[in-house]
Amino acid sequence: MKTLKEIINYSKEFVDDNLSFEEIKWLLLDTFSLQEYQLISLKEKEFDDEEYLKKLKLAKKIPVSYLLNYQIFFGYKFYVDNNVLIPRNETEELVQHVLNYIFDNNYKNIKILEIGTGSGCIAISLKKELDKRNINSFILAVDISQKALEIAKKNAFDNNANIDFILSDCLDNVTNDDFDIVVSNPPYINKDNYVSKRVLDNEPHLALFAEDKGLAIYKKIFLQIKKFSFLKAVFFEISPDLKSNLENIKNIYLPQFHSQYLLDINKYVRFAIYLKY
Ligand SMILES: C[S@@+](CC[C@H](N)C(=O)[O-])C[C@H]1O[C@@H](n2cnc3c(N)ncnc32)[C@H](O)[C@@H]1O
Repeated sequence: MKTLKEIINYSKEFVDDNLSFEEIKWLLLDTFSLQEYQLISLKEKEFDDEEYLKKLKLAKKIPVSYLLNYQIFFGYKFYVDNNVLIPRNETEELVQHVLNYIFDNNYKNIKILEIGTGSGCIAISLKKELDKRNINSFILAVDISQKALEIAKKNAFDNNANIDFILSDCLDNVTNDDFDIVVSNPPYINKDNYVSKRVLDNEPHLALFAEDKGLAIYKKIFLQIKKFSFLKAVFFEISPDLKSNLENIKNIYLPQFHSQYLLDINKYVRFAIYLKY
């Protein structure tokens, strides 16, 4: 048994390049079922810290999201394990861009296709937020990984979100072609680029890397959506170094669409938005 103050003190020694204090604090709060303010008000209270210390040691190698099997994204709780990418903050920004577009254009009915859904975080957050605004939406989400799809389905059920899911390599198994919006955060890391050991050792490589210097999935998506006659907007999360290549590819497949490349909160070019107007 140790006081909370003692536990917090030794926890701080675990902070390094891979493990932030924020992540440790989350592990601590979750393990002891505490609210943040209680870190101060209960600092002299004693806890059995055996399990916590085991998890803390593991957290040096395994992301806390996988240890706790969840991640909060856009205010919703998503089950995650190492079959799906851990939803990132940047991707919440992608969801917000899609929502802003729908709200700004006053759509009351919208058909959305998400490619590479992973945990389902994009599709499910969109569905929940559109439901809140009474906007009718049909959302189809695809992934090439059966295990990821099972997790996405579980998350849709747990969050009470009505999404259609299909196992598909990009759009190979998709028969509908009447989508208004396509959104994707595909695998986009060039295999030659640096990736931290923590990500490399834990997250699914299928979710991270793409052939053709990171462009392969975007190219396939462009090729498959160019025939979508109702398509009004495409939203991609991208790696900053892909911007000029993507612009060239977009000009070939969707020449009538106007491009916007937007920065994320860390000032990296992270979002490619193509709009028909
Ligand atoms: C970067 S993750 C994104 C996951 C989730 N949408 C998110 O933003 O957190 C990319 C996802 O694309 C899937 N994927 C990879 N190649 C694919 C393909 N050819 N067709 C469909 N999905 C693919 C992976 O299995 C993975 O779930």
